[in-house]
Amino acid sequence: MLEALPLLPDDPILGLAAVCRADENPKKVDLTVGIYMDENGVCPVFEAIQQAQNMLVEREVSKAYLPPAGVAGFNPGMQKLVLGEGSTALADGRVSSIQAPGGCGALRIGAEIIQAASPGARVWVSDPTWPVHIPLLGSVGLQFSTYRYYEPQTHGVNFDAMVEDLKGAGAGDIVLLHGCCHNPCGADLSKEQWSIVGDMAEAQGFVPFIDFAYQGLGDGLDADAAGLRHLAERLPEMIIAASCSKNMGLYRERTGCTLFLAKDGKSADALLSQAKVAARRVYSMPPAHGALLASTVLSDSALTANWQSELHSMCGRINGLRSDLVEKLQASTGRDFEFIRAEKGMFSFLGLSSDQVQTLRDDYSVYMLGSSRINVAGVNARNIDYLADSIAKVL
Ligand SMILES: Cc1ncc(COP(=O)(O)O)c(C=O)c1O
Repeated sequence: MLEALPLLPDDPILGLAAVCRADENPKKVDLTVGIYMDENGVCPVFEAIQQAQNMLVEREVSKAYLPPAGVAGFNPGMQKLVLGEGSTALADGRVSSIQAPGGCGALRIGAEIIQAASPGARVWVSDPTWPVHIPLLGSVGLQFSTYRYYEPQTHGVNFDAMVEDLKGAGAGDIVLLHGCCHNPCGADLSKEQWSIVGDMAEAQGFVPFIDFAYQGLGDGLDADAAGLRHLAERLPEMIIAASCSKNMGLYRERTGCTLFLAKDGKSADALLSQAKVAARRVYSMPPAHGALLASTVLSDSALTANWQSELHSMCGRINGLRSDLVEKLQASTGRDFEFIRAEKGMFSFLGLSSDQVQTLRDDYSVYMLGSSRINVAGVNARNIDYLADSIAKVL
């Protein structure tokens, strides 16, 4: 029976990263997978996480299962981090959350809850969106519609088109929004645009589902959460999938959290009970290590300060690289790349054709996704000139 299953190709992004790893050209440039890399091309362990880990090694006395909602201190810490200390939804006790295996696990738990509430519900996703969204959410039986989002000609959000398309989203529908640092395009909604989305959700009754995988990597922890916090203040219901992969560097520890904002505390408790049952049928209990580290950092003021300062430097470095890249690319190509500076987080589309992307790979060992999405954090002082020159040659 099992032998009938065909061999599948590698995941396009992870497969490309493997091709890049195998390339022996010393000048190769890896702009593929969305991980933060420092000036030396290393994805670092945060100092505060390292310290928390040392403390944990000393103190940990058991590896018994966690309860299904996860590490006790992790959920309140994440709720404050995502929604802010001043959140009225938190003060009103209408928020619950469950620890999940990474942002992906958090999205999946959110999808399970939507499917339980409304089987086959329609989820509106941006065009384009992270390619994992549709298989991840679709595997529970949800249906999809797309709303126009990124406009290649202007390298920005086509907000009029987004609004036009979302007029079709009604009560019972879910609208998936990237909380900040849109993957793949880096083009985010402005404060005013978030507010219009809030008006539409209020008037039309759709429920926002926020994918929040990059908090702190755009403009800072609070600034990046401003849009979703605005919605949280206004709307009765919302789901948020938060990840600690990027902003705490806990990628492989699979640390994330699904937050539910409900109309009251009773509904929030009901959603948590549903999420625990969903987790039980999918993976039973979440992994402990990453959430123990995150909750240690979030509950210790010195570690929190240390973590925030390191995250702030990362965010500053990414924004600095964006500016450097604009200047180098404009100098080498004579074209306008100003849009890279305006975009947020790790990703931008360079606006190259798939043939140009292929030539960059084949002739220059410069690796980016076929869509010309780059991971800006893969740029550094050693490769930026080579990168800009290579791009100039293919243009
Ligand atoms: C848009 C988006 N959402 C969610 C995730 C999930 O991240 P993880 O499961 O690694 O926490 C990612 C990771 O790359 C992402 O880019």
